[in-house]
Amino acid sequence: EQPINCEPLKSLVRTVPDFPKPGILFYDITTLLKDKQGYAALIDALAAHYIGKDIDLVLGIEARGFIFGPALAYRLNAGFVPVRKPRKLPAETARITYDLEYGTDSLEIHLDSIEPGQRVVVVDDLLATGGTMEATVKLVQQLGGEIAGLGFAVELDFLKGRAKFPEFDVFSLLHYD
Ligand code: PRP
Repeated sequence: EQPINCEPLKSLVRTVPDFPKPGILFYDITTLLKDKQGYAALIDALAAHYIGKDIDLVLGIEARGFIFGPALAYRLNAGFVPVRKPRKLPAETARITYDLEYGTDSLEIHLDSIEPGQRVVVVDDLLATGGTMEATVKLVQQLGGEIAGLGFAVELDFLKGRAKFPEFDVFSLLHYD
């Protein structure tokens, strides 16, 4: 499949100043998601990037990775695995704790969700500092999965999050500087 140019979709993204804190300009994609053509174009563009790359699993990061992961997995004939906030998953998990600007956060994955050598794409709505994705990559590697790609709807280029992943294919649909 040909790469799809998502630039025109930016007109459907709403910017909200001072959310969630003063001085932050929030890129709100809910206005894009509710648009029939817009949502389809996002999933099509992600699928076009990963089709033919032999993807076994798509991982989505709670909460907003769940907006994209399952639709992409369906298109790729891959399985879907949720990466969740602590104490949400019922069976045995691996947990990782990572630093935020203030404090820490944790994510969990079921220990039996990835078989060693399986090719995994991890998706989330937003690449900002990359801390959330970096933690998720560590979980995947701990379980023996192979990172085939890291996919995002939106990338905040000025935060240089992709510098955390020089060895991986980092693919984002919409870029903001
Ligand atoms: C947001 C976003 C990403 C993460 C990106 O999630 O959905 O998961 O931040 O930031 P980073 O690249 O600096 O790590 P949030 O922590 O707001 O959680 P939520 O999706 O559950 O609201």
